[in-house]
Amino acid sequence: MQINPEHRLTAAVIEQLGQCPDRRLQQISGALIRHLHDFIREVELQPEEWLGAIRFLTRTGQACDDKRQEFVLLSDLLGASMLVDQMANRKPAGATASSVLGPFYVEGAPERANGADLAALPGPRVHVSGTVRDLAGAPIASALLDVWQTAPNGLYHVQDKDQPEHHLCGKLRSRADGSYDFITLEPVSYPIPTDGPAGQYLQAMGRHPYRPAHLHFIVTAPGYQPLVTQLFTAGDPYLDSDAVFGVKPELVIEYQRQADGNMGVAFDFVLEPVQAR
Ligand code: BEZ
Ligand code: FE
Repeated sequence: MQINPEHRLTAAVIEQLGQCPDRRLQQISGALIRHLHDFIREVELQPEEWLGAIRFLTRTGQACDDKRQEFVLLSDLLGASMLVDQMANRKPAGATASSVLGPFYVEGAPERANGADLAALPGPRVHVSGTVRDLAGAPIASALLDVWQTAPNGLYHVQDKDQPEHHLCGKLRSRADGSYDFITLEPVSYPIPTDGPAGQYLQAMGRHPYRPAHLHFIVTAPGYQPLVTQLFTAGDPYLDSDAVFGVKPELVIEYQRQADGNMGVAFDFVLEPVQAR
């Protein structure tokens, strides 16, 4: 049987992987070449379009620096980050679901006491409280909750020279009974950065850049899988169209008016033990 020259080319490139000493690299590269060649054939990719894609990826790399990761943004808005995250975090029933880390996490937030106010700006506050527990419901003491969010202007402290370093960030430790609590500014929905190649691509696709209001958490405790997640504000208009596809229904929380007149929410983080998978 006559093999189409375009498919013969694909087979020749894959054949070259036969010498690859790293089996996983061989597997990944084989699939990448197969899908890339299929994609090029499917859309009848034109030379100027391929060159355009190369220029776009070049600009994406050039937009990266120690504070900005344009490739993460691109991966996020293509849903790739969330897909990798979902496959890496197939949690047992009852464990808190994960969501994407995002590009604005900064190591080194200061430790804050339970009850601390993370904000250095006036504005409506929310009280966030709950417990950290295991799958059987037992409290996990001294779990570390690393928290971060944007200011009301939609910017994280690393994006905004007018905010103090680590503003609206903090590391809290759960108490002996697993409980934690802190006060912060009411989170707002905000646009992911649109001033670079990733944002231009989003616009070209006719999509909006908004993320629904959320709080970020990394919750860790010895003997448990680290949990990277976000808590999204119920009623936010962007819950169903998050620019980075990070929303899961079980991560949507409803702030309620509390006895002291302030808005608050209680959310329990349930960690899975290291050996659960
Ligand atoms: C964030 O929530 O911080 C975020 C996640 C993905 C892309 C941009 C921002
Ligand atoms: Fe965020």
